[in-house]
Amino acid sequence: MAPSTVKTATGILSLLHLASAAAVPSHLESARADCASVPAASKYPTWSQLPLQTTLPDPFLPLAYTTTDNAGGSANFAQDVMTGKGKNRIQTPEEWYSCRQPEIIQMLQEYQYGYYPDHSLETVKATRSGNTVNIEVTAGGKTGRFSATLSLPSGASSAKPAPVVINIGGMNNQPYLRAGIAIVGFDYTRVASDSNAKTGAFFDIYSGRDIGSLAAWAWGFHRTLDALNATVPEIDPNRVGVTGCSRLGKGALAAGLLDKRITLTMPMSSGVQGLGPYRYHGLSGQDETLENSKQGAPWWSDNTLGTFMNHAENLPYDAHTIAAALAPRALVIDQGTGDQFTNSKGIAVIVYPAAKAVYEFLGVGNKIAMSVRSGGHCDMSGFDSVLPFVTHILQNATLTKNYDDLGTYGSPMKTAFPWATAVPKAN
Ligand SMILES: *[C@@H]1O[C@H](CO)[C@@H](O)[C@H](O)[C@H]1NC(C)=O
Ligand SMILES: *[C@@H]1O[C@H](CO)[C@@H](O)[C@H](O)[C@H]1NC(C)=O
Repeated sequence: MAPSTVKTATGILSLLHLASAAAVPSHLESARADCASVPAASKYPTWSQLPLQTTLPDPFLPLAYTTTDNAGGSANFAQDVMTGKGKNRIQTPEEWYSCRQPEIIQMLQEYQYGYYPDHSLETVKATRSGNTVNIEVTAGGKTGRFSATLSLPSGASSAKPAPVVINIGGMNNQPYLRAGIAIVGFDYTRVASDSNAKTGAFFDIYSGRDIGSLAAWAWGFHRTLDALNATVPEIDPNRVGVTGCSRLGKGALAAGLLDKRITLTMPMSSGVQGLGPYRYHGLSGQDETLENSKQGAPWWSDNTLGTFMNHAENLPYDAHTIAAALAPRALVIDQGTGDQFTNSKGIAVIVYPAAKAVYEFLGVGNKIAMSVRSGGHCDMSGFDSVLPFVTHILQNATLTKNYDDLGTYGSPMKTAFPWATAVPKAN
């Protein structure tokens, strides 16, 4: 069931739901009134109010029951929280979609991405000239402009529109076009600079806000989709993948998270602030961490993430939480075994199975896939490796590949997510 169709228990709750909905961006859902309370922006617990969790946090435990205020003097609080013994865990898929999923999406904007702008206040104008779509977004009297480039598969028409993969940074288009999938790209540096300069179409409108470039690039994906929907009838706007590699894979993940129109999220070699775990970061080669990523490229995320430097194990979430919040929509994760930068092993043996436990709880275990391939960081072969899953999701092709095969990494490292032995039983 799509989260947007979840019904509240009573009419009164529905009214409260509508009333509180005004406070959040129009395309995101607010939590239901009987959910655990969610803090207002900038009133979230600080690192020192959160327990030190050396294993991946329990995705079923609401934030309100994760703070040390709930410890009640118990020395075992952190251990209980890590092992799925925390109080008031989410019990049903309905509760996940009504309460926990919107809470996670809000929490990630507070702690990591910065608050995504309210799309209902934006006007998008798009014009098409051949294979170029010019996009102009206006909000609050300010305008930002960028353009996207189309590659359409042969045979795509308004009568037979093709699914699309929106890509930043480049990919090998040919196998996708041959499969009947359109590829659309945009110059991400025109949307938001990959630097502290904070320039580009996004910051032409939203200058001065504490929003990282990952969320700004996500906005570029979303406004591109608006423009495709308005001007390119050869593309089906209801079958949409988003992808990019490395820092752009972190951006593609944010794009999938922050807009429920995205059917399939495809982060490639994404690393920390993508699907690389903050915990267990040293499992493969060069060690990308919260600290060195925040130091090297502070503009990717908001300032709040910086307050967790040297306290990453106090974060109440990890990469698996981000992945789980995409469900029931599809996710395929690509990592190369020769990639010494982005902790491929950690993503394969920890993040993927931990997120899959949530997908399975929700009854959509077949919507998440792990592509472990040979080759290095951002090797173009990754796009071939995920293609069977992409055609499965976007074109209903029969799945021909086993994406639970973690190759030389072997099997999941279950000690990293001990709560998974106590996943609530959905009725
Ligand atoms: C496309 O535009 C139509 C008309 O504004 C709207 O109803 C529909 O939801 C849009 N679809 C997507 C995928 O944005
Ligand atoms: C998808 O494929 C299955 C079997 O391969 C078929 O039963 C089903 O109707 C298809 N769905 C769509 C939407 O085409």
